[in-house]
Amino acid sequence: MQLTYYERIGRDTLRSLVEYFYEGVKEDEVLRPMYEGDMEAAELRLFLFLVQYLGGPATYSERRGHPRLRMRHAPFPIDEKARDHWLMRMKHAMDQVHMDAESRAFLWNYFVSTADFLRNKA
Ligand code: HEM
Repeated sequence: MQLTYYERIGRDTLRSLVEYFYEGVKEDEVLRPMYEGDMEAAELRLFLFLVQYLGGPATYSERRGHPRLRMRHAPFPIDEKARDHWLMRMKHAMDQVHMDAESRAFLWNYFVSTADFLRNKA
């Protein structure tokens, strides 16, 4: 039986990834102003979303419903610069955790295409 990416990467590694990512967001002059509310709650949402996307428990949708990522990002001005900052912060986070090469490539490709899909401003 094939393992899901969630099983391959592991919940703890995903948790660390999201923690490192948000450490970067807090220091990012482009991204930081977009996060007005509770950063810990935002961190938990991204974590649960990734768990679900990678084949783990569907806690994200139980709490938040359908992800509708484009709609949920509509309030934030996401231009090329914001996209690139998000990806740079995620790349730094990925560099700090261990995962097998195929999982890493899968996740990175997903982030690159989704970040571009979420662009809503030239
Ligand atoms: C392209 C640059 C991006 C920017 C500037 C951005 C910014 C934001 C902001 C400001 C929030 C609100 C924080 C909160 O949850 O309270 C948010 C939420 C979220 N973002 Fe992003 N994001 C980006 C890309 C992505 C990507 C690539 C993904 C997925 C791979 C993603 C997944 C999410 C999720 C799951 C939420 C929580 C949605 C919810 O349940 O409300 N974002 N993002």
